[in-house]
Amino acid sequence: MAAWKKQNVFLLVFVLQFLSIHGAKILTICFIGGSHYLLMDQISRILHNNGHEVRMFLQFGEGMLPGYKPPPSPYQVTTYSLDEKYLQEFMDIFLENQKEFLKGRRGVQSVLTFLKELSYQCNITLHQSEIINFLKEEHYDIAVVDAFNPCTFLVSEKLGLPFIAFFPGIMANADRVGMPVPLSYVPLFQTQLSDQMDFFGRLKNTLMFLGSFVVQKMIDSTFDGVIEEHFPAESRPNIPDLHLKAELWLYNIDFTLEFPRPLLPHVQYIGGLLAKPVKPLSQELEDFISDSGDSGFIVVTLGSMLSSLPLMDFLKEMNDGLAKIQQKVIWRYQRSKWPQEVEIPPNVKIMDWLSQNDLLGHPKMRLLVTHGGMNSLLEAVYHGVPVLGIPLFGDQYENMARVKARQMGTFIPPEQLKADNFASTIQHVIENKSYKISAMKLQTIRRSQPFPPDQQLVRWVDHIIQSGGGGHLHPYSYKQPWYQQWLLDVLLFIFVSLAVVIYIIVTLFRALIRKLCSAGKLKRN
Ligand SMILES: *[C@@H]1O[C@H](CO)[C@@H](O)[C@H](O)[C@H]1NC(C)=O
Repeated sequence: MAAWKKQNVFLLVFVLQFLSIHGAKILTICFIGGSHYLLMDQISRILHNNGHEVRMFLQFGEGMLPGYKPPPSPYQVTTYSLDEKYLQEFMDIFLENQKEFLKGRRGVQSVLTFLKELSYQCNITLHQSEIINFLKEEHYDIAVVDAFNPCTFLVSEKLGLPFIAFFPGIMANADRVGMPVPLSYVPLFQTQLSDQMDFFGRLKNTLMFLGSFVVQKMIDSTFDGVIEEHFPAESRPNIPDLHLKAELWLYNIDFTLEFPRPLLPHVQYIGGLLAKPVKPLSQELEDFISDSGDSGFIVVTLGSMLSSLPLMDFLKEMNDGLAKIQQKVIWRYQRSKWPQEVEIPPNVKIMDWLSQNDLLGHPKMRLLVTHGGMNSLLEAVYHGVPVLGIPLFGDQYENMARVKARQMGTFIPPEQLKADNFASTIQHVIENKSYKISAMKLQTIRRSQPFPPDQQLVRWVDHIIQSGGGGHLHPYSYKQPWYQQWLLDVLLFIFVSLAVVIYIIVTLFRALIRKLCSAGKLKRN
């Protein structure tokens, strides 16, 4: 008995030692609110729960997630807030942009405006010398950063930390990560194409590829001033190089929605970190839902940053549309912003915040009406729920193109949304069983993946820490000049050689003919 106990103690000591060896110091960096924050929070929790010492460097701002009260975080947080006046300006710019999107106006300009704000904020972040010095002294093993905001790269660089880049959506930056991009079947970001392209699709894809270099240059240049100000001339990083410097790239996507494509060894898809088994709903919600009978209910959420609508007409069309359907509706909307003169239909319940994951897992759930953010779509896949999208900006149109290609739902561009087509499209997606069948099929694919996303995250981060970085996974192309990568030097050599050979043959042939001719003349003479 005593021996058995001793053995147990030994085992315990061993396990504790194992944990302390394997627990690394990890800094997670999150400078954007909304869905970006939700993901980085989840990543920090998962790493913390798996024995790592985690601290999040968080730029906190009002409006980060209206209505959401985060549960207490088990990991450490270092945060500072931008000043009130600027935050108001930022929200105003954001709302102004949303209005344009709702009217169907989308352009590169809005992306540039947004990135200019991120760059402005980055300058302030890098000026937080107290925090920066504190983080430097903490000597983290590695940073895990929200790769959407290039500022997280710059902060890692400033701290001298290797970093793992986590990208919150589809692969919008494949060529910058050095990925092969076969334009014949890999649709580029902002094309809204699927992997099955006809001639004009492939033409569009190719032209967008060429154009994307110009746009990328414009986007990167928004950070020039910040880089100049915060890094000495001899060690000034540039944003394209920082993309290649990431030890590992993780993307919030999986092959339930993304089209199959070639990847690199240090690029992994770990989409769906936020989808989880359901928890029971509140009694109030259960009562509301059970009143719906066989018709069931639908959920309407338009994204964490858009919890109220800046356009009255649009709100009215949506509201009138929802009044026409048989289903009950749970709509996430900031109650304090609801206009008094608009009457809420009896089948609709407005809530400041809702646990989308738990609602999606309810047996009476029929449809998710969403802006098409990747987190929402992956939650819908996880629970096998069809989707109707009202995409606004960013990757949302691309995401909905994937949903449509997978026949899991459809979408209405906001400028075309009217009460009648909204109601009839909702009915169509609910009544036409093929959408539900596709959604259930994707659910099976998602749930039978060899490793769940949270396990993949932990194992990949551990692997990178233990092997001292991701260098063994980076292709040699990272070090090659572009003309070598595209084999232009080899092609040039082959063409020149061919040209020389052809020239020699032609010259010899000519000389031969001349000789034969003159020989013939001589004979005749
Ligand atoms: C960064 O902020 C400082 C202090 O507010 C300001 O003087 C400087 O002009 C800013 N730099 C850039 C590139 O915006």
